[in-house]
Amino acid sequence: MGKVLIKNIKGLVQAGENIPNVRKGAGMQDLPIIENAFLAIEDGIIVEYGSMEEWGGIVDWRGIEIIDAEGKYVLPAFCDSHTHLVFAKSREEEFVDRIHGLSYEEIALRGGGILNSARRLNEKTEDELFRDALKRLELVKSYGTGAIEIKSGYGLTVEAELKMLRVIKRLKEVAGIPVKATFLGAHAFPAEYKENKRGYINLIINEMIPQIAKENLADYIDVFCERNYFSVEEMEEILVAGKKYGMKPKVHVNQFSILGGIQKAIELGALSVDHLEEISDEDIEALKNSDCIATLLPSCSHFISIPFADARKMIDAGLPVALASDFNPGTTPTGNLNVVLSLACIKMKMTPEEAINALTINAAYAMDLSETHGSISLGKSGKVIITKEIPSLAYLPYAFGDVNIERVL
Ligand code: NIG
Ligand code: FE
Repeated sequence: MGKVLIKNIKGLVQAGENIPNVRKGAGMQDLPIIENAFLAIEDGIIVEYGSMEEWGGIVDWRGIEIIDAEGKYVLPAFCDSHTHLVFAKSREEEFVDRIHGLSYEEIALRGGGILNSARRLNEKTEDELFRDALKRLELVKSYGTGAIEIKSGYGLTVEAELKMLRVIKRLKEVAGIPVKATFLGAHAFPAEYKENKRGYINLIINEMIPQIAKENLADYIDVFCERNYFSVEEMEEILVAGKKYGMKPKVHVNQFSILGGIQKAIELGALSVDHLEEISDEDIEALKNSDCIATLLPSCSHFISIPFADARKMIDAGLPVALASDFNPGTTPTGNLNVVLSLACIKMKMTPEEAINALTINAAYAMDLSETHGSISLGKSGKVIITKEIPSLAYLPYAFGDVNIERVL
């Protein structure tokens, strides 16, 4: 890997040694930037940074790559703590159905949605799924994603869930960035268990979880806690079972309705609660008194035309907020976090500083990567983004639809 020196950086963003693991509430507005800066990286580790005036010059020029970043910003690569990157096929027919007036929930009740993806996944081999997922992974890396969480949940049988998780394991080996795996067998009830929900929950608890643990295939366990999907009680049973095997909860809650899933997930030690398009004052209170981070997914709201999560209310109440893509074929067909950054600012009234915090340190926290990712700090190993020449940092979310990233290294 060797040595890299980036010099004349217009602004070195999120750089410092006393950066907290999460920024919350009013603190989300803090975003340290060193102007006219340099950054030195050796074998992938940040070894020095500061302003150009402080720069001591190069002692050893051998094998060093020098990058002139005049007019450009450098920031820590984004962390995407919530994706469904492994899937068999896109679902644009449902997209057209929504244009004609059907809602996401109506389409799902007609056998579309997650069950549609599950049928298609069963037709693909592990190798095919791996090849397609790797292409998507390379694409999102070029958009600035420097760490990614990937869920199963389109298998819904023992074999197919294992197949998805084995694909994620293979991605971990070749990704070049950290990949975290989440078991989401409780994504939907398969059609054959429609009248026998107990049977499917037993399958998850007695067969899937032990086998997945045996092969060490999952870091986290997720449940889609929602009306027509899994109840709070069902979620609890499944999360408790996963925890026994060391899988930490990280859940889908409050996308369409408020069932009490947030409080229960917090009680069970969830690292993050994701979606939160619907939220109550009690939910906010519960989050305030916890280490669990609210993870918002504005691309999903945008794509399926549901309300955006009330980020303002959460931040103004003092909560930390993370942002993620939710990349999946049903509700978010892009893993481009530049889109998420723009939507967070435009639709959820997050400031550029808050949104960048939500995609860097807070997102790193949401996937247990605080030690290595999320900021430009000595010893950290996360990738860094070099932007194109841009007039200001706010230009990044402002120029929605563009990817103003020149290079990720
Ligand atoms: O996070 N809401 C649950 N899961 C996904 C959508 C899955 C799908 O439609 O394929 C989400 O939006
Ligand atoms: Fe999701």
